[in-house]
Amino acid sequence: MECRFQIFQDNTWKDCALLTLLNPAAGDPRTSCIFEYDLDYAFEPGAEPVSLHFPVTAEMQKLDQWPAFIFDLIPQGSGRTYLLGQLALNDGPTADFPLMCAGAFGPIGRVRVVEAVQYYANHIARHDGGKPLHGFSLEEIIGRGDAFNERMLIHSMLAAGSLGVQGAAPKYLLTTDHEGKWHADGALPDQQAFEHFIVKRPRGKAPNDFKVLKNEASYMKVARAMGLRTSGELRYQDDTLFIPRFDRLVKDNQVLRLHQESVASIAGIVGFETTPSQFNLLKAICSVVDDKLTETIEFLKRDVLNLAMRNTDNHARNTAVQKNDGYVRLTPLFDFAPMYLDPAGIPRAARWYHPDTNKELQHWRDILATLELPDEERNQIRLELYRFGHQLTALEHHMQEAGIDDDIVAFLRPHIAVQIQQLQSLDEEHHGAN
Ligand SMILES: Nc1ncnc2c1ncn2[C@@H]1O[C@H](COP(=O)(O)OP(=O)(O)OP(=O)(O)O)[C@@H](O)[C@H]1O
Ligand SMILES: [Mg+2]
Repeated sequence: MECRFQIFQDNTWKDCALLTLLNPAAGDPRTSCIFEYDLDYAFEPGAEPVSLHFPVTAEMQKLDQWPAFIFDLIPQGSGRTYLLGQLALNDGPTADFPLMCAGAFGPIGRVRVVEAVQYYANHIARHDGGKPLHGFSLEEIIGRGDAFNERMLIHSMLAAGSLGVQGAAPKYLLTTDHEGKWHADGALPDQQAFEHFIVKRPRGKAPNDFKVLKNEASYMKVARAMGLRTSGELRYQDDTLFIPRFDRLVKDNQVLRLHQESVASIAGIVGFETTPSQFNLLKAICSVVDDKLTETIEFLKRDVLNLAMRNTDNHARNTAVQKNDGYVRLTPLFDFAPMYLDPAGIPRAARWYHPDTNKELQHWRDILATLELPDEERNQIRLELYRFGHQLTALEHHMQEAGIDDDIVAFLRPHIAVQIQQLQSLDEEHHGAN
């Protein structure tokens, strides 16, 4: 079983690579496969990799497990459920590869699967090939009337959620045109695209599902106020969250698709069920980004806020890197929300497990001491975190300003206090060390 990849470069989709599974029936990602870039692509000047973990080479690569980047392309959540029905497959790891070959026709980032593009084209042709394009108003999206749902089903196969965009919550990839009408992303030609969004609905029907989504926009405001890297404003309206996409840029009537890849992919994590060590994730980030110190500080501050604001869902696909103009860095923050409220009970996913003892470290002092860094950089980071500890004293104020629910603010108070206390003690450490 095989699949072909295309990459968006120079304003066009180019064939670039091939993956052949050697033992497809098992559906076990820990079986061998062959990954190879197309030879003519590999010799093109400026050829870009499909994954930063797999630089472009003319060599054929025999791997003893599936390449981790494909797990960024396998449909998850309600989009997965929908496609399983379409393909008449039972859920489980054996479904992963066929799901990717049907669902990854227009995912986040700039890599897509040719088989999925064909599947999508057939699907459209079966349903409403040739019908004129017509966009939706914001009211129609929010109301999710029949016409909108029908169009989503046909054009993005998004009846219940989204494909090609991962995560548990139901989502649509929608694009506005120059008249302000909304379209299924795959249905709108690039020349007509104005702005790209992820439109997210609550994960379930419990009151807390709504509360988590409602507060996600305010959480992002707080992150911005605290100086973390963020992108456009999130907007919450009638149980629907509108998230501007940062993997697409519109310029001169062209759409630029930026490379985006999860930290799970960069760290070589195969499969979905993992509780990785933050040390490994940070190491993986540092192996690909341009400015290691800046990105390390950003990653650490994000984790301070994860702990202070109980965003427990910090799994390795909730952090990603992007490449823009040849420069690799962490993407702006995303999926930052009061996940402790989730009715499913989500424990913190990635933790600081000591690389040798595997014991979880819970104090920033110990984490800092364990990072593999020259001491000069460690001190710089220590100072940044110490200052961040001072900034945290304004966190409650920022949360109120951003409109976060009062009960969340009250619940977080002790968690914030722990972070302030730990970070402020880093100064003593510093003086003590000298
Ligand atoms: N603003 C954005 N621009 C581009 N890509 C994004 C943006 N926000 C999220 N993504 C991508 O979309 C995926 C799904 O989004 P998100 O993580 O918010 O959904 P979710 O359903 O809440 O996920 P989870 O299952 O982790 O709770 C992310 O993993 C990320 O790859
Ligand atoms: Mg997510």
